Amino acid sequence: MIRYLTAGESHGPALVGIVEGMPAGVPVTAADLDEHLSRRWLGFGRGGRAKIERDKVSVLSGLRFSHTMGSPIALHLANAAFEKDRAGWPEVMAAGGTGEGVDGITMPRPGHADLAGAQKYGFDRAPHGPDVRPVIDRSSARETAMRVACCSVARQMLRALGIEVGSHVLRIGEVGMDDPGLWREGRDALLASGGARALYEAADASETRMLDADLTERTIAHIKEAKAAGDTLGGVYEVIVTGVPPGLGSYVHWDRRLDGRLAQAILSIQAQKAAEVGDGWAAGRTPGSEVHDPISRDARGAYRRESNHAGGVEGGVSNGMPIVVRGAMKPIPTLIRPLASVDLETGEAQPTRYERSDVTSVPAASTVAEATVAWTIAEALVERYGGDTFEDLRQRLDADRERFGMERA
Ligand SMILES: Cc1cc2nc3c(=O)[nH]c(=O)nc-3n(C[C@H](O)[C@H](O)[C@H](O)COP(=O)(O)O)c2cc1C
Repeated sequence: MIRYLTAGESHGPALVGIVEGMPAGVPVTAADLDEHLSRRWLGFGRGGRAKIERDKVSVLSGLRFSHTMGSPIALHLANAAFEKDRAGWPEVMAAGGTGEGVDGITMPRPGHADLAGAQKYGFDRAPHGPDVRPVIDRSSARETAMRVACCSVARQMLRALGIEVGSHVLRIGEVGMDDPGLWREGRDALLASGGARALYEAADASETRMLDADLTERTIAHIKEAKAAGDTLGGVYEVIVTGVPPGLGSYVHWDRRLDGRLAQAILSIQAQKAAEVGDGWAAGRTPGSEVHDPISRDARGAYRRESNHAGGVEGGVSNGMPIVVRGAMKPIPTLIRPLASVDLETGEAQPTRYERSDVTSVPAASTVAEATVAWTIAEALVERYGGDTFEDLRQRLDADRERFGMERA
């Protein structure tokens, strides 16, 4: 079993993470992790913190000579802005002291964890009156930086096995391509030329991570309009994994189903509100004859599909086709235009105050989703092929690939 944990507050000195259970001998460097992390800054419409959060990961343990050792991998991301531009946050979130005299933030922001989190952990009252700072600081999407770093260790293992993860954005606000007929051909050509890596590299070249230039332009105009109106935008993106063998996940128990676990990978990310596998919602309004992917055999005797409506998963098990998962992100809840709220101190209705924030983070969220989906695939892969060493795992996977008529890594 592989697992990871993160700790750290958004305005604290650092985020830390521990990745546990990776086989020994996986090629990984800090530079690999930084490369995946740097993609979290992508996207038109990002401002504020995105500009000051330039992360470089430090590896404290678990790697030797650019390879995993089987021991826990401890990662550290210093908060580059800890000393500056934090409006006194380090002091008001100090680990020591009593907190006496600290003015509480008493206006919970709608759409954030502020009110529900404060009620849950008792920050709506104690110890010196209400203060939602502890909720703000841990529920912030800043945590996704460490999540991406941890998941990228697994992603490097997938890469060394010829499994790539990529994504592209399908919609931001009202501008998007809901009809797959518009983009499927371009996407599939990229996947055929260089797998999901070619897909994400092409998407990264667009400011909105969209594959269509005209759509990118229209989306940028839409983001500018939203900004001028003091508003924010959500969107939809698609994550694809290529090179996955048949047999990951299982139909035998609810919690082993790969599709359920992929949905969790998406919905575990802050502000993601929907996930679909393959045709997803569209499958609910399409007749069966157009949804299920007929099975055939090629000249070598390998099983093939001409279509992939299932998104690479049938019965909770990967079927050897690319894994296709889509996620929908809600609009960022911190708006320039105030929203109605209630002061926890006085009980009076008040508008929220303005805070620095992005107009949309959908392009960034799509890169975070790549990371969490990579983790889920890696976890299922380690479950199936096991092994304390990467070499053992690779050999077992290659044996399966041969059996299934797939290319070896
Ligand atoms: C990559 C990414 C960036 C985000 N940036 C912001 C931001 O700049 N401002 C903001 O208010 N919320 C931002 N959010 C959303 C918040 O993290 C917030 O936790 C979320 O909207 C709460 O939604 P939940 O109910 O799903 O937890 C971002 C989320 C992600 C995934």
